[in-house]
Amino acid sequence: MATTPQTSLHRVEAYERAFLMVSAVMLIVFLGALTYAGTMHDVHLPGAGQRIDPRAIYKTPPFDHPAVHETPSGDVEAVITAQAWIYLPTEIHVPVNRQVRFILSSADVIHGFEIIGTNVNAMIIPGQVTQLTHTFRTPGEYRIVCHEYCGLGHHTMTAKVIVQ
Ligand code: CUA
Repeated sequence: MATTPQTSLHRVEAYERAFLMVSAVMLIVFLGALTYAGTMHDVHLPGAGQRIDPRAIYKTPPFDHPAVHETPSGDVEAVITAQAWIYLPTEIHVPVNRQVRFILSSADVIHGFEIIGTNVNAMIIPGQVTQLTHTFRTPGEYRIVCHEYCGLGHHTMTAKVIVQ
């Protein structure tokens, strides 16, 4: 049976209604997820404690002495600064099978921080402190690369992690 223009119009309306319903449900689910993350898991924008004046970065602890060090409680911390187009230090040594806390900030523009062969992948944003942890399970040499375009020398911006 051939469809008349009237019935095909009804079908379009039915599809449109269905898609609107799906969109509305998705919005509600996403809003719910945001609310859940914000209230139950404390996911939020960086607080005052994670901010830093990028012009004073090399005078502001811990970035006044970028290096790997062990805290009194025995945690391994790697303090690294990024600026066009180097990381400081350019090479770090960390122990295998121990959690390393990376503490990162930028002196100028946005840089990336990716450790090849791991899931370490973060942005380093001027004015903010980026923190993440990783446990290297395999000794060896890992390359850090900048994956945010940061100017002419972006492709040369690398550093090394030696896991031993
Ligand atoms: Cu730093 Cu690209």
